[in-house]
Amino acid sequence: MWDRLWLNARIATMTPGRPYGLIDDGALATEGRRCAWVGERTSLPAPLERCAAEVRDAGGRLIVPGWIDCHTHLVYAGDRAREFELRLEGASYEQIARAGGGILSTVRATRAATFESLLEDADRRVRRMIAAGTTTVEIKSGYGLDLETERKILRVARELGRRHPIDVVTTFLGAHTIPPEFSGDANRYVAFVADQVLPALAAEKLVDAVDVFCERIAFNAEQTERVCERARELGIPIKLHADQLSDSGGAALAARLHALSADHLEHANGAGIAALAHAGTVAVLLPGASYFLRESQKPPLDALRAAGATIALATDCNPGTSPLYSPPLAMNLACTIFGMTCEEALRGFTASAAKALGIEARSGTLAAGMAADFALWDAREPAELAYSIGETRPHAVVKAGRQVSLNGAG
Ligand code: NIG
Ligand code: FE
Repeated sequence: MWDRLWLNARIATMTPGRPYGLIDDGALATEGRRCAWVGERTSLPAPLERCAAEVRDAGGRLIVPGWIDCHTHLVYAGDRAREFELRLEGASYEQIARAGGGILSTVRATRAATFESLLEDADRRVRRMIAAGTTTVEIKSGYGLDLETERKILRVARELGRRHPIDVVTTFLGAHTIPPEFSGDANRYVAFVADQVLPALAAEKLVDAVDVFCERIAFNAEQTERVCERARELGIPIKLHADQLSDSGGAALAARLHALSADHLEHANGAGIAALAHAGTVAVLLPGASYFLRESQKPPLDALRAAGATIALATDCNPGTSPLYSPPLAMNLACTIFGMTCEEALRGFTASAAKALGIEARSGTLAAGMAADFALWDAREPAELAYSIGETRPHAVVKAGRQVSLNGAG
């Protein structure tokens, strides 16, 4: 006997083999935190009353895996609306960053914030994400740039995972930019990050992955490697912000470091893309940032496809380049601006995103043994989820087998 059996649903399992892994008249059984059985209703192994303790009617809705948002910076203080205005007046993101604004302005606000106020702000953002159907979120540090504030951010991230029905994967992004106290001495800051901050936070079990902003306004390849080398010694997987603003050789470097993912990639070159695909490093595209920065250079989607790379999507939720919470809106942007197919977009926020976090063995598709993380949508076709512009909301969300209360989550 299973705990619960959902019937009267179309199920986009996102398993490979057929479009969306779609099952027309589907049944999904959960046992504890996992799916126990997923398939055609007519293939259920026993009469209904002997299958499960409880039978639920999905009302003909579409069941889709919970979104996995594999790249966010959602723990921060302050806002950057003024910078948005400056950019509309003609200033570029790089110019604002070089003048001490950008990431550093959020660093100032985040250093000044208490743990409690940081948590309160981030809590509101996470509720919006849950209400949008997100069941796993990756959260990066990187607005502290000192031991104490990086720890504060990662502890807030862990606390969010404890108090909400969402899995939180933490990523240490100490090498996001150079803080004022190390100004002009990037190498000394990199040594501080690699030799002191990262080992200390890893020892506190606050770090699930390590990321570096590899870019001409941030860290070069050698500095990036220095941090990643320490991550490797500590047995922590690597992700990179690569080739967002310029071709910095980030894609090839990510491949060489066997990173889980290389993210952004607007300016990645052909050799880097081939290397990514070969290494099994996931290409994470971030249409929110591309749209918000009005970036004319699109990520090399055709080359990624031709190379056979796994392509994921994320919101990149952050105050500077992507104040975006909604995966369906990110999918819509990915389709309209990047030219992705709706199926690529849905895979990008489910199965492929799981791979970008190294959790594909337990999450991102609906099949026996996988996490019982899914949402019920008032939709018939999976493409509808990428089609609407705006805050498309699910009818219900199930996390680890239990229905989530969406009251106040939004
Ligand atoms: O993913 N590129 C670097 N990091 C963020 C932006 C952070 C910020 O501007 O606050 C990004 O775009
Ligand atoms: Fe980012």
